[in-house]
Amino acid sequence: MNYCRISGLGYYLPEKVLTNQDLEKMVDTSDEWIRQRTGIELRHIAGEDELPSDMALKASLQALEQSQIKPEDLDFILVATLYPDQLMPNTACELQRKLGISNVPSLDISAACSGFVYGLSIASQYIQSGTYKNILVVGTETLHHITNYEDRTTCILFGDGAGAFVVSQTDDPQKGCVYHQELQAYGDLGELLFISSPGAKQAAKKDFNTGKQDTYIHMDGQKVFRKAVQIMCDAYEKALKDTGRTPDQIDWLVPHQANERILKKFCKSTSFPEEKVIFDIKETGNTSSASIPLSMARAVEQGKIKRGQDILMVAMGGGMTSGSILLRY
Ligand code: UT7
Repeated sequence: MNYCRISGLGYYLPEKVLTNQDLEKMVDTSDEWIRQRTGIELRHIAGEDELPSDMALKASLQALEQSQIKPEDLDFILVATLYPDQLMPNTACELQRKLGISNVPSLDISAACSGFVYGLSIASQYIQSGTYKNILVVGTETLHHITNYEDRTTCILFGDGAGAFVVSQTDDPQKGCVYHQELQAYGDLGELLFISSPGAKQAAKKDFNTGKQDTYIHMDGQKVFRKAVQIMCDAYEKALKDTGRTPDQIDWLVPHQANERILKKFCKSTSFPEEKVIFDIKETGNTSSASIPLSMARAVEQGKIKRGQDILMVAMGGGMTSGSILLRY
């Protein structure tokens, strides 16, 4: 049997930070409101010339070093991102070029904040089927480009960053394996969270070339919040049911860091202990597809998550999309 294990993790956060105090000077908000309603104190912002592929490269090199796998040993590169370097070539091809390799299939995944979990799920299928041995899966975001810093309901949330996993084939499930995974999407809820440009929908409009394109993230915060809690609860119950586990057999929950209150509501509804949840939004904000690999890599670095522990990852985002994976690290 082939099992899929995480052989290396890496992350990157840009140097520049945007604090709640900075935001107080930009929109009608307060540090207190942002901390109470979201748990965020600051977020990182990529440099002027820093592209998603540049940040992906930094996170990937760390993950490759940890896994002791050379870039030329990669069989597949998957990059989840909301806002790629450009429409073509894709960011995964750009990352491949920056890694100094060639002749490796490379694909971008567009599933908003669930993109990384979609990527990990795809990667695990290729590993388990025996098709590939080593796959690089990355989430990377420069959300500041698509954040409207005049809209206080969204600009307080988002930050930039990247996280990467190298996943590898093993015949020993004790070294790591995927127990359960489930992807989902609710296309009927698309209007709750969207970015309409660049895209054909906007291009078809008359004012496309007049400079009036709307490239910002739009969100119905309250509705997304309620759906996010429901998705987390459902994913958790399903993972327990399908694997025949009890809650104490999950060592850590590594969720998409959308809002600290979403995670606390999940814990209240399911009685899952908050001490077993990785809360990592305070100094990063919501980094969309980067948030799960970023928070997992940081939790491992901080010595919280250890080898041999069982981890449940749950993500939800625009689409609306969702995804969950229960794995042994
Ligand atoms: O990662 C993808 C998925 N995204 C998410 O999961 C985000 C989900 N949603 C959220 O995190 C929350 O809905 C927000 C953080 C966006 C908003 O928090 P909320 O507790 O849902 O606030 P609200 O929209 O119910 O607004 C409450 C009040 C309103 O004022 P009134 O009408 O009660 O007078 C807002 O106008 O707070 C006001 N408000 C703010 N006040 C100060 C909204 N944004 C701000 C702000 N500062 N930044």
